[in-house]
Amino acid sequence: MALIIDCDPGIDDALALLLAFGSPLEISAITTVVGNVSVEQATSNAQTVLNAAGITGVPVHPGAGTPLSGLVRASSSSHGFDGLGGRGSEPLAIREATAVDHLLRLSRSKRDSLTIAALGPLTNIAMAIQRDADFAQRVDRLVVMGGAIGSGNVTPAAEFNFWHDPAAVDVVLRAGFTRLEIIGLDVTGQVFLSAEARERIRLSSAPSAPFVYEMIGAYFDAYWRSHGVVGAEMCDPLVIAHLLDPEILTLSEAYVEVELEGQSVGRSNVWPTARYRDKIANARVATGVDPQRFFTLFLETTFPASTA
Ligand code: RIB
Ligand code: CA
Repeated sequence: MALIIDCDPGIDDALALLLAFGSPLEISAITTVVGNVSVEQATSNAQTVLNAAGITGVPVHPGAGTPLSGLVRASSSSHGFDGLGGRGSEPLAIREATAVDHLLRLSRSKRDSLTIAALGPLTNIAMAIQRDADFAQRVDRLVVMGGAIGSGNVTPAAEFNFWHDPAAVDVVLRAGFTRLEIIGLDVTGQVFLSAEARERIRLSSAPSAPFVYEMIGAYFDAYWRSHGVVGAEMCDPLVIAHLLDPEILTLSEAYVEVELEGQSVGRSNVWPTARYRDKIANARVATGVDPQRFFTLFLETTFPASTA
């Protein structure tokens, strides 16, 4: 299985990348997209994370700098001014957005064996579909962090990735992916990194541990300010953990649509097909999670205990 990680680092994207690279997953490429930060900053951040973990030789392909609508809507961020809690570097000047080219190229060379983990807004994925109508059929599996059966996190209705580019979500939902899996806030909201887990990271032997410990501190500060809780939600890492261990999440077949305008723009309307039998499922949506199983995998894979 070849894997592309499409992301908008973002602190939780960074943790997802570190989990993926600490695992046996075969990562063919990273593509970046505007979301938490500009695509220039996201591309710089992806490289910063790889450097912190001592990872070389993995191509990072910059993608869309604006949503399909062309309008970047800002929202308050838990990720800090630079997307990595102050641990980021300067944004990278982008000569050419090559993400969509590589999504299309790898969907041909890895036909029926390509998995895409989409951790940010779906703009790059939608652009690949718009450029090549057969793209969706060549992709074996698309796993998306986004949406919610219940409440949102940017508005009461909408989750950030879907809110940022609802038109892209609509393109993806209508594209006919054989295996589209959507991991939303209903399960990520049950997976909170604790202060104890952060200490476990500090004490680990992972090369990235010092970098991650500081980065997560800024994440915790943001959650304390916005939610009054100590800890931070593990959204994107849950996508990678799901690829590694299918027992962590429970998913159900559903027909999913997205609100394209109005007060609830970006809201995912999830119709479980077991309940709404007249609807034809276009996705499987995560409805349950085993947080302890996730954290055991996450910490043991990414931040093994120091043997000293
Ligand atoms: O709503 C959570 C999602 O929005 C995560 O992917 C996070 O990185 C932000 O992009
Ligand atoms: Ca993200």
